[in-house]
Amino acid sequence: MSPNRLLLQFALRRPLWIGLTIAFGFSGALFNGVSTMLIIPVVLGLLGEEVNLSGAPPILRKVFSSLAQSGGEAQFLWMMGFILLAILLKNVTSYLSTLTSSYLSRSLVKDIRKEGLQLLLDVDFDFYIKTKAGDLINRLGGEVGSTATAIRVAVLMLCTMITVLVFTGILLSISWQLTLITTVLLAIVSLSNGFFVKRAKHFGQQLSDRSRDYSVAVLEVLTGIRLVKATGSEPYEYQQIAHLIDAREKADYDSQTNSALITPANEMAGLTVVVAILLLGRVFFRGQLESLSTVLLTYLLVLFRMLPLVGQLNNARSVFANLAPSVAVVTDFLRRENKPFMSKGHVPYSGLREGIRFEKLEFTYPGHDRQVLNQVDLWLPKGTTLALVGSSGAGKSTLADLLPRFYDPIAGRILIDDRDLKEFEIRSLRQSMGIVSQDTFLFNDSVRNNLAYARRDATDDQIIEAAKRANAYEFIVKLPEGFETLIGDRGVMLSGGQRQRLAIARALLRDPDILILDEATSALDTVSERLVQGAIEELSRDRTTLVIAHRLSTIQSADQIAVLDQGRVVEVGTHTELLRQGGLYAQLHSMQFSEEPQTV
Ligand SMILES: Nc1ncnc2c1ncn2[C@@H]1O[C@H](COP(=O)(O)OP(=O)(O)OP(=O)(O)O)[C@@H](O)[C@H]1O
Ligand SMILES: [Mg+2]
Repeated sequence: MSPNRLLLQFALRRPLWIGLTIAFGFSGALFNGVSTMLIIPVVLGLLGEEVNLSGAPPILRKVFSSLAQSGGEAQFLWMMGFILLAILLKNVTSYLSTLTSSYLSRSLVKDIRKEGLQLLLDVDFDFYIKTKAGDLINRLGGEVGSTATAIRVAVLMLCTMITVLVFTGILLSISWQLTLITTVLLAIVSLSNGFFVKRAKHFGQQLSDRSRDYSVAVLEVLTGIRLVKATGSEPYEYQQIAHLIDAREKADYDSQTNSALITPANEMAGLTVVVAILLLGRVFFRGQLESLSTVLLTYLLVLFRMLPLVGQLNNARSVFANLAPSVAVVTDFLRRENKPFMSKGHVPYSGLREGIRFEKLEFTYPGHDRQVLNQVDLWLPKGTTLALVGSSGAGKSTLADLLPRFYDPIAGRILIDDRDLKEFEIRSLRQSMGIVSQDTFLFNDSVRNNLAYARRDATDDQIIEAAKRANAYEFIVKLPEGFETLIGDRGVMLSGGQRQRLAIARALLRDPDILILDEATSALDTVSERLVQGAIEELSRDRTTLVIAHRLSTIQSADQIAVLDQGRVVEVGTHTELLRQGGLYAQLHSMQFSEEPQTV
């Protein structure tokens, strides 16, 4: 879809406001034109000059004759009043037009932002893996902001265009010959603006690209600030980003110097047109200049008022061209066809009855060739625990991610009570699962709100109960403000073990049907591990649980242990059975036993 069609598509959703904007714009232009047209005859009349309206447009003569009844001085005072009234009406309608056009452009921007937000919430994980967060923030912030300006400019252009058309109509009614020449001359001026417009687009592209680079770089540094500081990379990062700041401002400056040229260039060209019209008028109307002076003056005044509007239009064209690359970015961003979306399913999930079956699962990450899961067959009966072990990169987290449908397998199926996972309505399915993932996420909010995120209607008692069962209550109440303590970005104020226990409490609070725990006990000291371990046991008791742990000590009591090796299930059994088999599990176990005797 072309960027302009995107704007049009959004605009057409607000037909009433488009109609009002056009109607007020048109009436404002009409009052403006009529009052302008009356000024010269009235001023001449008031000064006692002869007002000759032969050759004047019928509408002007009509207005004049209808007001001419009173005759003499009073006639012109009447007309003065009429002009004032027309100017008043012009200003009232212009004001209303500003209000409606502003409301219109704001509504369009709101619509676009909301559509972008909805898209970000709907799109699959895969999109986020391929797109940098800084780029997204730039699109949803800066680029949508530029698109907003483009919309305002487009609406303004629409209003200005209406005014110019009305004025051209008035000019035509005064003298079609002169207007023909004016139009040709002004068209030449506008065409010669093509040069500026092209440059504006080029600089706009530069600005859009540099803004994206800048956003991406800043966000990367902020997310990795610990690494930046730990490696003393501040000067390097400063240089990198300072360079981007310079490049961005240069692009912005270039586009401003370009557009700053348009107004003076157009004013000069406009004046040249007026002079040309004057000279041509003399040639055209040689001999009748005396009688035509009122009409000619009126023509020139109307033209004079119209010229800045033509200038404005040319300027707006270049501003619009400058913003076009941003509109293109937003258009591409809002397109749904080029983004991954998951089928949502329609059967409401109402609880597990028998168990979960993984059937000949195959998986490769989108856009990658390497097969991460290969012919995985597993059976997880209701109310039992299945543990996944295996070396790093074996595919454990990937397998766990398929259960809440963060990804879909490329072949094979996951069945819940003999029904394909894909048939379930995706939100109700996910809401029935508690997930404690490898990297616990916490919001920069209070402990209480972080816990209640999984269940918004949870009472204080339920929250405290969940915290107690997750072995988190003790440390929470020791925090400066207890449950109301703010825990910083991603929970930086807490230790790794504390964060994990909060994540477990959050999952507990939800009382999920199915539980997915990914390596919840890695990188912890013995005491923390015991606490977390206790919390996990509490959480997984009598619950259907898929657990991944590097420390084999934590899964010894699991009903089944599946050993994954390079995406394949190579062994399945209980701890004792697998040890007796003397295979990969026994090997992993003896390695850990010799490395970390204290944890076994
Ligand atoms: N988003 C991704 N895109 C492409 N490949 C990925 C992605 N995530 C993981 N992989 C690859 O898939 C393979 C399995 O990764 P996975 O995270 O499932 O391993 P794991 O068994 O959980 O390892 P660990 O024990 O280290 O957590 C790895 O080779 C990894 O490089
Ligand atoms: Mg993992």
